[in-house]
Amino acid sequence: MQTGTTLIQFLTEEQRKTGQQNTDILELLTTVTISCKRISSAINEGALAGVMGSLDSENIQGETQKKLDVITNEIFLHTNERSGQLAGMASEEMETVYDIPADCRRGKYLLVFDPLDGSSNVDVNISVGTIFSILEHNKTSHPVTADFLQPGTRQIVAGYALYGSSTMLVITTGHGVNGFTLDRDVGEFMLTHPGMTIPTQTKEFAINASNQRFWEAPVQRYVSECVAGKTGPRERDFNMRWVASMVAEVHRILVRGGIFMYPKDTKDPTKAGKLRLMYEANPMSFIVEQAGGVSSTGRQRILNIQPEGLHQRVPVILGSREEVERVISYHAAN
Ligand code: AHG
Ligand code: MN
Ligand code: MN
Repeated sequence: MQTGTTLIQFLTEEQRKTGQQNTDILELLTTVTISCKRISSAINEGALAGVMGSLDSENIQGETQKKLDVITNEIFLHTNERSGQLAGMASEEMETVYDIPADCRRGKYLLVFDPLDGSSNVDVNISVGTIFSILEHNKTSHPVTADFLQPGTRQIVAGYALYGSSTMLVITTGHGVNGFTLDRDVGEFMLTHPGMTIPTQTKEFAINASNQRFWEAPVQRYVSECVAGKTGPRERDFNMRWVASMVAEVHRILVRGGIFMYPKDTKDPTKAGKLRLMYEANPMSFIVEQAGGVSSTGRQRILNIQPEGLHQRVPVILGSREEVERVISYHAAN
């Protein structure tokens, strides 16, 4: 007989050990995992369900929406609005915050999410994911945008689902990082990666090199030194990866180390970076720090940023401690 620990069993035990009993969060996370299982099914059906391809519409970020961007957003909204634990939600795919419908029980948490991360990869059958972050709303009023604009240090939970060769859920509640794999036979996420930690050193870097001419000097220096390998100042060879799904890159870094960069560049001077603070950078930074890594814009710890807008973009440099600290030092020296 196969045995194991389910996600909710694990979190219940974690709460008992840390003396932080909170059944409301467990209820909410149960619903979040149901949304991820539903999204996993939708993505798995792929072309059979007629869900591939783009729509004519653009999201609030001016990006062309994939059919699955919209479908996964709907799944996440309509599954979680029934959790009874939410005061409101905000998503990459919606301009404004989402209020819980009047016929649903309300709660005291805010759920922020990127329903489909790496959506350009969905038509070519490469890994995509969902990223989520839970914040508190300790007011009786219906939440407005300002209630969501809390720095990343205030996150209660952060996690991502990775729809890859297997479906995984990786989560932190501020007590380390644990990974669970979806057992499709029983429909549960089972603990498979307890206590995930990022190796402090790495020989692997990830950056979209087609943007090289737009990078600032510190990133130019770091990448050119990696590329120079054994014959350069680092005196060792590096390897490069770029999946174009942040979830897949962060997962690889959690499993075997590495550094991921989507830095500040001059490609579009109106944007501080490409990735979104609230539903990409903050949850991933919480996870990376809890796994012993570092996450920075190059000039500031991401989790300390006071958000100014729901869809605010920031530079992101995260991963193995020694490499990220090196890039930070190159920024300081610049
Ligand atoms: P999304 O699909 O939610 O818009 O996010 C895509 C993000 C991130 O996952 C990835 O690291 C990056 O955009 C890829 O950007 P490029 O296409 O510029 O490489
Ligand atoms: Mn994304
Ligand atoms: Mn997305």
